[in-house]
Amino acid sequence: MEYIEICGGKKLSGSVALHGAKNSALPILAACVLAGEKCVLENCPNLTDVTASLKILEYLGCRTHREDDVVEVDASSISPRDIPDELMHEMRSSIVFLGPMLARFKKVCVAMPGGCEIGLRPIDLHLSALKKMGADISSEGGRLICTAQSGLHSARITLDFPSVGATENIMLAAVTASGKSTVVNAAREPEIKDLADFLNSMGADVRGAGESVIEIYGVERLGGAHHRIIPDRIAAATYMACAAVTGSNITLERVNCADLDPIIPVFEKMGCDIGCGDDCLHFAAPKLLISPGEIRTMPYPGFPTDAQAVVMAACCVCYGTTVFTENIFESRYKHVGELIRMGAKIKTENRVAVVSGVSNLYGADVVSRDLRGGACLITAGLKAKGITRVTGLHHIDRGYENIEENLASLGAQIKRVRNE
Ligand code: UD1
Repeated sequence: MEYIEICGGKKLSGSVALHGAKNSALPILAACVLAGEKCVLENCPNLTDVTASLKILEYLGCRTHREDDVVEVDASSISPRDIPDELMHEMRSSIVFLGPMLARFKKVCVAMPGGCEIGLRPIDLHLSALKKMGADISSEGGRLICTAQSGLHSARITLDFPSVGATENIMLAAVTASGKSTVVNAAREPEIKDLADFLNSMGADVRGAGESVIEIYGVERLGGAHHRIIPDRIAAATYMACAAVTGSNITLERVNCADLDPIIPVFEKMGCDIGCGDDCLHFAAPKLLISPGEIRTMPYPGFPTDAQAVVMAACCVCYGTTVFTENIFESRYKHVGELIRMGAKIKTENRVAVVSGVSNLYGADVVSRDLRGGACLITAGLKAKGITRVTGLHHIDRGYENIEENLASLGAQIKRVRNE
């Protein structure tokens, strides 16, 4: 068994450099399917979800190579193979291969995706958009069979909800479809803009990414590209929560402060002092955190659902009561039961969690049940009196590179233990 062991109560100090954004790297790797030549990605995080994407690319016949944080993908010898179920099930985001595979080969057969257990996570918006672009979609034995015999064509697609994955899949399908496609009520997350920047450097013509309306002018072919993936804003929020909960001052390096606009005011309400530099952020926590009041998760530029759990860990020891409303996923409070085992006072009802601040948390053996919930338990463990052991590390390794080493380098007493 593998677990992370934390002896809580230590202050943090020093600096930590952020890795590239997982949620950018995954669609960007899928976009490599469309390239006629080699793509080079800098700042590509070394995470199990990224490894799963590279495995899919290799299975399809791409040559991939990693050296430190630089990943090369050469899709010139890619072939139209059905992606095996076990590769699809390694992560939910594998659904983002649907658009580019369909665009390149006019046919793709994939298993319904796996991934984080944080709700139903349907893919109806992805499928109805692809249908509108000319795809025929049927399902058989848990597999989706998608064909577009005469190729995909442009379409005007209005999303009921600004789904990140659906927006990406549409962009990936539309970049080589004939004509101008429009996505109305598109997701506006920084990772969408990063994907568009990558596609444009491959020769695509995507306009308006980062806004609610995205226009995609189809081009005939895409070439190779050299791209630097943006910093991971959720990893940034996690380290900020770790510093907040321990009353510490730290510096984050290789960060893009503008992407943290929806998160910074919450920490400021807690009494933290935040200074933004060119590509660094100085974070100073007060002795006693104050409740930020209400936190509602919303699509970007609202407060991100991915930061809900780590910020909740900090709110557990705030002075006052914090009311969370989770508007994005219907089942994203799996960390709450574990926080309560550590002494937190939290009541949940449907999408609402009411956190009444306590003066301290206590170490316990806890289980991470999803990626951000796992990071939340590590954050709580840094504050808790005594020893916390967090299991379920495969979730955490999907989205954080060397989290325990980074926290140890900041002065936390934390280590990964592997028992035979
Ligand atoms: C992405 C992020 C994830 C983040 C989420 C919301 C990646 C790899 N993952 O996930 O970290 O938490 O955005 O910011 O980028 N929905 C539907 N039908 C669909 C698609 C989505 O009903 O076809 C619903 C989902 O069930 C969910 C909500 O829309 O309730 C948001 O999902 P979406 O924005 O698509 O999230 P993901 O792309 O899966």
